Amino acid sequence: MNRKSIVVLISGSGSNMQAIVRAAQQRQWESRWGARVVGVVSNRPEAPGLSWARDQGLVTRIVDHKAYDGREAFDAALREVVDGLVPDGRPDLVVLAGFMRILTPGFVAHYEGRMLNIHPSLLPAFPGLHTHRRAIEAGCRFAGATVHRVTAELDHGEYLEQAVVPVLPDDTPETLAARVLTQEHLIYPRAIERLLASL
Ligand code: GRF
Repeated sequence: MNRKSIVVLISGSGSNMQAIVRAAQQRQWESRWGARVVGVVSNRPEAPGLSWARDQGLVTRIVDHKAYDGREAFDAALREVVDGLVPDGRPDLVVLAGFMRILTPGFVAHYEGRMLNIHPSLLPAFPGLHTHRRAIEAGCRFAGATVHRVTAELDHGEYLEQAVVPVLPDDTPETLAARVLTQEHLIYPRAIERLLASL
C-alpha cells in the first residue's frame, strides 16, 4: 500500500486538528489507507494546539508569520516547511484547520487539488470573517460549516461536506460558534476519510 501523508495547519486551539488526529487513530486510517498525520504546523508559536500535538507524539513545526516581511516571504517559508515534512517533498493532503491566514495564489496553486479548509458557515453564504454574528444579524434560522477544497478564490472551492445547525432565538455568536464547532469535528474527518478512500 502506498503511504499517504497528511499535514495539518493550525493557528489556535486546533480543535479540528485534534478531531482529525483522533479519527485517524480510532478509524485506523494507517492500516486502511496507509494514511497518517505526518506533521502539525502553526503560524503562531503560542498556538495551544501545538502542545496537544506534541503530547500525541506528532511532529510539529512553527513558521511565525511575524518573522517574515510580507505574505510572499511567509508563504514561501511555510511551503518549504510543509513539503519538508515528507521524504518526497509532496504531502498528499494539506489540511487547514483553524488556520487564520489568507494564503497567496502561488501557495494555493502549489497545493491545488490537495488542500482543504473548513469554513464556519453554509457556503456560499457568509464567506470571510465573523460568520456567526453575520448569520444572527441576518436573521438566519440555520447556520453551519463547510469543508471545501482550497482554490485561489477565498472560501470558494468544491464543497466536500456540510453540516447544518439551528440558530436559536437567544443565540450569541459564541453559543452558535460552539454548536457549529461540534459539527465541524464530525464533518472534517468524514471529508478526509472519503478523500483517502478515493486517492
Ligand atoms: C473554527 O470555527 C473553524 O471553522 C475556523 O477556525 C475556528 C477554530 O478552529 N476555521 P480550531 O478550533 O482551531 O480547529
